Amino acid sequence: MSIHIRTLGTHIGAEVDGIDLREPLSSAQAEEIHDAMDRYAVLVFHNQPLTNEQHVAFTRALGSLENTMNNTLRNAADFRLPPTFADVSNLDGNNKPFGQDDRRRLFAIGNRLWHSDSSFKAVPAKYSLLRALRIPSKGGNTEFAHMGAAYEALDEDTKDLIEDLVCEHSQIFSRDTIGFREFTPEERERLRPVRQRLVRTLARTGRKSIYLSSHAGTILGWALPEARLLLRDLTEHATQRELVYSHKWQVDDLVMWDNRQTMHRGRAYPASEARDVRRTTVAGDAPTVEQAVAA
Ligand SMILES: [Fe+2]
Repeated sequence: MSIHIRTLGTHIGAEVDGIDLREPLSSAQAEEIHDAMDRYAVLVFHNQPLTNEQHVAFTRALGSLENTMNNTLRNAADFRLPPTFADVSNLDGNNKPFGQDDRRRLFAIGNRLWHSDSSFKAVPAKYSLLRALRIPSKGGNTEFAHMGAAYEALDEDTKDLIEDLVCEHSQIFSRDTIGFREFTPEERERLRPVRQRLVRTLARTGRKSIYLSSHAGTILGWALPEARLLLRDLTEHATQRELVYSHKWQVDDLVMWDNRQTMHRGRAYPASEARDVRRTTVAGDAPTVEQAVAA
């Protein structure tokens, strides 16, 4: 059976039905989903009460898994989920919400900045697949912006300016912008910057996009203030409301997005309420640019 698609935003997003993600995915269905991702960049599946194993199996049918350990400041005692999952919840190892001023929470709320998942890794993520098990009474939407549409809306001078630029990405940069600067030497080592092209081309479609993320903190060869201002201007341009789809979560939603051609951000919600959302990630194919050789 082929899937049914209903578009959401003008430039981004579609709702998919006619598919039960608990069932094994046929190669024809997988191809339909890849095509829909190329085209809409964000796909929403409602009423998918998956087990963790089914969530992982669906993800593996679309590509190889990224190991998402070490994306947060959680200690081993806080891990609620196997390393095939990024725990994007606000819950500790006892399933209790982190305290308002807990360092792990203050780091995690950096997700409220516009970003692309794993842009701080040398091989950044392809798809993210986020599933909601518990949601707060209000807030907590996830917003998505289409970086292909954003690229196409740039003037020609700006397209020329950014074509060959290379940025450095690190979670240290994104956290710095919200004043979170207290990292241990071990964390600083783990969070060392990687390089990413600022303009990417999606191999299957040939469509160009701006590869932006709050993790981007420098542009090679540029003075820091000028680099930060260009990145800020581009982000402002790329997140105009017309280019954005805002997802209001329901329990058992699974939302998947293409990190190569979108940015997203979480929105605030009451800190005392549980938000149990968990993510698998399809790994990217290759680095976007050659990495610096470590000194
Ligand atoms: Fe994210």
